[in-house]
Amino acid sequence: MRIDILTLFPEAVQPMMDASILGRAAKKGLIQINCVQIRDFTENKQQQVDDYPYGGGWGCVMMAQPLKSCLDWVTAQAGPRRRRVIYMSPQGARFDQEHAKRLVAGYDHLVLVCGHYEGVDERFIEKCCDEELSIGDFVLTGGEIPAMAIADSVCRMVSGVLSDPACYMGESHWDGLLEYPQYTRPETWEGLTVPEVLREGKHREIEAWRREQQLRRTMERRPDMFAAFQPQTSEDELTVLRLTGREPLTYDCRLAEPADMDRLLAIAAEASAYLRSQGVDQWQDGFPNADTFRRDMAEGGCWLFTHDGEPAGVVSLYLTPDPDYAAIDGAWLTGGAPYATIHRTAVKDAYRGRGLAMEMMQLCEDLALGRGFGSVRIDTHEDNKAMQGLLRKRGYALCGTVYLHHGPERSLKRLAYEKVF
Ligand SMILES: C[S@@+](CC[C@H](N)C(=O)[O-])C[C@H]1O[C@@H](n2cnc3c(N)ncnc32)[C@H](O)[C@@H]1O
Repeated sequence: MRIDILTLFPEAVQPMMDASILGRAAKKGLIQINCVQIRDFTENKQQQVDDYPYGGGWGCVMMAQPLKSCLDWVTAQAGPRRRRVIYMSPQGARFDQEHAKRLVAGYDHLVLVCGHYEGVDERFIEKCCDEELSIGDFVLTGGEIPAMAIADSVCRMVSGVLSDPACYMGESHWDGLLEYPQYTRPETWEGLTVPEVLREGKHREIEAWRREQQLRRTMERRPDMFAAFQPQTSEDELTVLRLTGREPLTYDCRLAEPADMDRLLAIAAEASAYLRSQGVDQWQDGFPNADTFRRDMAEGGCWLFTHDGEPAGVVSLYLTPDPDYAAIDGAWLTGGAPYATIHRTAVKDAYRGRGLAMEMMQLCEDLALGRGFGSVRIDTHEDNKAMQGLLRKRGYALCGTVYLHHGPERSLKRLAYEKVF
């Protein structure tokens, strides 16, 4: 992995990138992090990199030319590679572990552009950058700290940088949970003793204790993550039900018929209200509606799940290629191979967090596999963290971005996922 950080302050960034684990990895040739001085690429005598904003206002804006010349030099130096040019911006998508995984899996050259002052000329972003990333909803004086954070989180996942992938795979945010508490010697410190289970050395009990701690911590500290978490094993499922004081439920499912339309619309309406309450702008535009479900029934299959005869959830499976998936900003895992598509995973409020979505996905995957498909694809809104958590749990890979076309005037950006059987 090569990372070039375009900055006005290379002397502040380079020592940090050369320290500790990343420094050792660079010496071994596993990664290369270069800080490049944007000012060296100015074309004026004063080496001026910024100027007053058109239209007036405070501060200065970084000019496009030095940035573009700097970028051209870096790309010429690096040669042809799987490259991504990313502008550090408080207006970008919020960077998280999933972005780090995507970057390390998809690219071997990242160019991280650090703005300063009031930011950079919009035309440079438009013409030269592939995406914008933010490290949080606050504003810093420059992109250097975000670039260091992104470079660090990506590079520690490059093969060989840490001694074993297990070092980063069990950590907070890897699979939608926080890590369990950690202890080291001495056994007792300031009257506080290391939990007994960790001192007894029984491997299986330690594992079970740690998993429960992960679930408990996430529930207490990050209810948003806990709500999005989908249990992966039956032990997880039971622990979640115990922690939240709920009983496990069993469901029946059958193919929906036109006579089920009111039930389907009621489920969709609850799911849409839930998304709205979570601030997710998905299914807020009259979709899915009766036409959508009629098409699902005709073209693929629309499955109605019930509990004790009460409608609980719905999911649709298409067995023909989705025209909106033909163009992807990224790459499908299986390229042009045949695939099945899951749509409209919707759960009523009373059944949320009770294993239903997991069952619905399992059914669709079993059906797709049974029909001879090698993979299944699905899309979701970038703010729909619950769905993203479910997909992660079920082993779906984030492949990129697609656009759904609801009629000629509507183009909706969605994250695209695929699971290969
Ligand atoms: C003071 S900020 C400019 C903010 C800009 N005027 C705005 O309101 O969107 C200067 C630079 O810091 C970087 N920056 C600031 N906050 C950031 C954040 N949360 N994530 C990523 N980069 C950030 C960007 O590169 C930005 O160009």
